[in-house]
Amino acid sequence: MSVNNEFRRVTTQSLILMKNHGKRISALTAYDFITAKLIDQAGIDVILIGDSLSNVFQGNETTLPVTMDEMIYHTKAVTKGVERAMIIVDMPFMSYQTNVEDAFRNAGRIMKETSAGGVKLEGGVRVAKTVEHITSAGIPVMGHIGLTPQSIHQFGSYKARGKEEEEAKQLVLDAKALADAGAFSIVLEKIPAALAKEITDSVNIPTIGIGAGIHCDGQILVTPDMLGLNQNFHPRFVRNYNNLAEQIIASVGKYVSDVQQKNFPSEQESY
Ligand code: KIV
Repeated sequence: MSVNNEFRRVTTQSLILMKNHGKRISALTAYDFITAKLIDQAGIDVILIGDSLSNVFQGNETTLPVTMDEMIYHTKAVTKGVERAMIIVDMPFMSYQTNVEDAFRNAGRIMKETSAGGVKLEGGVRVAKTVEHITSAGIPVMGHIGLTPQSIHQFGSYKARGKEEEEAKQLVLDAKALADAGAFSIVLEKIPAALAKEITDSVNIPTIGIGAGIHCDGQILVTPDMLGLNQNFHPRFVRNYNNLAEQIIASVGKYVSDVQQKNFPSEQESY
C-alpha cells in the first residue's frame, strides 16, 4: 500500500503505515453531514464524532451530558457525508466506565447502528481490560490520555496534565497499556511536547495530539474551534484557520437588512 496520499478509505492499517513512514495524520471532529462532507473532501484522514458535541453543539459546560443515542444520531449523519476518512466515535461518559460488559455492548451498538470504523474511550491502565475486550470483538479502539474531559470533576480544571514527574511516568505506562491491550491509536491531550515525544517513541501505534506539541504522529482539533466559530474559546493550542463567527454575523446582518429594506428577493430570485 502506498502512503502517498491515496488510501481509497483510511483504515487502522493505513494509520499505522503512516506512522511507520513518518507521514503525519490529520484529524478533525464533525457532528453533522455537511461539515463531514466538506472536511472529507479537503482530505482529512480521521473524523471523530467527539463527545465535544456536548459542548460545541449542545451548549453544555462539560462533555458529561451527551448520551449514546445522541452520539449514534450524529454519527449516522456524519457517515453519510464521508467517502475517505476513517470515522471514529467517542464512547460517552458512563457508556464504558460501569463495567466491561456495558462497554462491550455499547461499543457493539455503535458499530452495529452506524457505519463508523471504530470507537474512542478515555483512560489508560484502568481501561486496558475494557479495550482488550472490545478489540477481541474486532472493534478498533482509539485510546485517549492526558487531559481527559470526562474526568474534569476529578481534575478540577482544564490545565495541562503530565507536568509533574509522577503523572508523566503514569501517562507513559497508560500509553503502553493501551497499545498492549490492542488499541490502534491514542489521543494525547494537553500534555508537554517532550512527554508526547517520549510516548510517541515508546509505542508502535500512532499518537494523535491536541495541545501535545509537534512530535505526535498526527494532530486533531475541534472543527468549530479551528474555523473560528467558537467565539469565547481561545486556548493556546488552537490555531484559527478562519473566523467564521465574524463571517456568519456579517452575512446574516446583510440578509436582515436586505429583507428589511425590501432588497431581497429580487425579480431573478422570484417565480
Ligand atoms: O471530543 C472530542 O472532540 C475529543 C477531541 C478533542 C480529541 O475527544
